[in-house]
Amino acid sequence: MTDKVAKLSLDGKTYDLPVHSPSLGPDVLDIRKLYGEADVFTFDPGFTSTAACESAITFIDGDKGELLYRGYPIEQLAEKSSYLEVCYLLLYGDLPDSVQLKDFENRVTNHTMVHEQMHYFFRGFRRDAHPMATLVGVVGAMSAFYHDSTDINDPWQREVAAIRMIAKLPTIAAMAYKYSVGQPFVYPKNSLDYAGNFLHMCFSVPAEEYVVNPILSKAMDRIMMLHADHEQNASTSTVRLAGSSGANPFACIAAGIACLWGPAHGGANQACLEMLREIGTVDRIPDYIAKAKDKSSGFRLMGFGHRVYKNFDPRAKVMKESADEVLGLLGIENNPTLQVAKELERIALQDDYFISKKLYPNVDFYSGIILDAMGFPTSMFTPIFAISRTVGWIAQWKEMIAEKNQKIGRPRQLYIGEKNRNYVDLRHR
Ligand code: CMC
Repeated sequence: MTDKVAKLSLDGKTYDLPVHSPSLGPDVLDIRKLYGEADVFTFDPGFTSTAACESAITFIDGDKGELLYRGYPIEQLAEKSSYLEVCYLLLYGDLPDSVQLKDFENRVTNHTMVHEQMHYFFRGFRRDAHPMATLVGVVGAMSAFYHDSTDINDPWQREVAAIRMIAKLPTIAAMAYKYSVGQPFVYPKNSLDYAGNFLHMCFSVPAEEYVVNPILSKAMDRIMMLHADHEQNASTSTVRLAGSSGANPFACIAAGIACLWGPAHGGANQACLEMLREIGTVDRIPDYIAKAKDKSSGFRLMGFGHRVYKNFDPRAKVMKESADEVLGLLGIENNPTLQVAKELERIALQDDYFISKKLYPNVDFYSGIILDAMGFPTSMFTPIFAISRTVGWIAQWKEMIAEKNQKIGRPRQLYIGEKNRNYVDLRHR
């Protein structure tokens, strides 16, 4: 893998840094021996230039606006595949044949119920708790129930934990929702597909028959596929870092959920829809564009910009088509929020500020509009992201654990604090 060498000159000495050529993407300087040999660290807050691991799962070309899961373009998967097939692909590396897919679907379906005792956890939360708060707590608490799948050194237990989390996250998120609206929990119905089952657990009530709308379950399945993995983003890196200490998989995924919650990451879908509603009408857009360009306002256009994409986020394109399709089929294509979103996108993409900084709509720009049309409150948007991303977190966690030379993650620092000083007794301060 190493075919080139970079040279670093420092204080009259030269150090060789191996250069690795990945299968896709820019070359990578290997600085692992740098501290030992040259007694220097590298400084890269936000990891803008640092590869923290090797991975064969997902690849993004930010300039082209390309996203590949195991080499397959996201557009092809969104059009032809299904969420559980994508889960299989991310976890095991290749698309399943029909027997493998059926077997995988059965395994996931057999794990959709949660331990009955876990129901009591929910009752400890306030009714107005954000469902993400509930999700972090309950997923972390899975390690208190499923002791037979917490030994990270046992590949079989790792596999069971993976299936359990993929299967149970929709159930737990739906329970968090039901609790927040004061309705009884709805058990999973295993005759439904993954996305349809989630809609059923969120929207059916014991008093009435609920029939899952196939248009909505297809749209939900697509949303899940688009969010399934995104290489080394903040929450995935959090899962890897938590896992690097040997923590159990449920605790690691709970850490990922906590990181996802922030408005710069998974919380952006909620923040984006709230922003679009606040704008309200097309004539108010210029004020918001001006505010987003004014650094002192502290305001950003939510659903715009990305650390890696310096072109259209390919997921946003699919999401926009989906928004048109779903709202059209529901007969609400004149939805004012969608009109504001489209006009905001049009104006921003012609504006020098956004052009020069290569700021394009990201996946969160249109997803909230679809979820809103389905009947979800904004507080459920990020939990739905968390359900979808769970497979990506697990695939990355499993990849890390299986690596032979895996080490605990432990960044260094550029210390800018006080030098050594002597303790002064309280009386003399
Ligand atoms: N509105 C206005 N200006 C922006 C925006 C925005 N949404 N995003 C970035 N900028 C400006 C920023 O002020 C900076 O300007 P300057 O160079 O003059 O200081 C420049 O663009 C680069 O921004 P950055 O913050 O250094 O870029 P980053 O890579 O650290 O941040 C980001 C990426 C996604 C956090 C950021 O674009 C942002 O805050 N976007 C809004 C939140 C959002 O939609 N997040 C969802 C991301 S996609 C889903 C996911 O993966 O979770």
